[in-house]
Amino acid sequence: MSEVFDLKSFIEKSKPLDLSGIDWALARRQPVSEAERRILPYFIDVESYTIAYLRGLLNTTAIEDPEIADFLSIWAYEESYHGRAIERFMAEAGVGLPADRPRSVQRKRRPLEALQDAAAAVVSRAVGPDFVATHMTWGAIQELTTLNGYRRLAERTQNEVFAEIVRRIMRDESRHFSFYYHKAEERLARSARARTVTPFLVRRFWKPVGAGIMPDAEVDFVSLYMFDGERGAAEVAHIDRTIGRLPGMEGFDGMSRFVADALARRGTQENHGTPARDAALQAR
Ligand SMILES: [Fe+2]
Ligand SMILES: [Fe+2]
Repeated sequence: MSEVFDLKSFIEKSKPLDLSGIDWALARRQPVSEAERRILPYFIDVESYTIAYLRGLLNTTAIEDPEIADFLSIWAYEESYHGRAIERFMAEAGVGLPADRPRSVQRKRRPLEALQDAAAAVVSRAVGPDFVATHMTWGAIQELTTLNGYRRLAERTQNEVFAEIVRRIMRDESRHFSFYYHKAEERLARSARARTVTPFLVRRFWKPVGAGIMPDAEVDFVSLYMFDGERGAAEVAHIDRTIGRLPGMEGFDGMSRFVADALARRGTQENHGTPARDAALQAR
């Protein structure tokens, strides 16, 4: 098992995202690509949706673990600053979203999503404490993919201000990942049942961050922007390998499978002569 996660220091280090010293005037002078204009609202929506994930989690047995309860309140607090920072960047860069654009969490809930929350609450009670391992593993995958996704955004952007904001967000994402990963490791290591249930549920139901709240075409577009090509493939392999080191999760290939499927879907669309907008955006 890797070294123990220091929850006390995590809590002490928690603070709102630091935007001091950001040169907002420079943000406007540097480019924001078409692809970024499409992708950033996705990130805003996903970040601001954390509170809804929290609602789901609070209905499960996860919060009976005092460390998880302490973590979750800080986690949701920190995430809420990420969406707002990106929103501010877009406004300062002159590509702001309409002021009355509803936040993702205020939009009408999809029936499927309400059902998933209800199902998670029921399964959590039925499976008992072992289900916490599944939640923590799930969280570790989402935080790790988010962290790597942000890294790709920072690498690809021509806007230095955006890159700097993203690097600051990444520090939080890395701490979040660390908590979920260590908790998953602890919960999986101590229960053979958790090591059976978790890989089964993850393999069946896991989808990348944003799936279920964003349209499928957007999930594919964002995933391919970040994880297509040689560099993306290396990140994807790293994600799968890292998760595959958790007890019971050997051979995890969720991210590579998703990206391969998204590539196949894009290929099919192109073959059917749909507008080349996606391909053109992707190439930027
Ligand atoms: Fe975040
Ligand atoms: Fe996070």
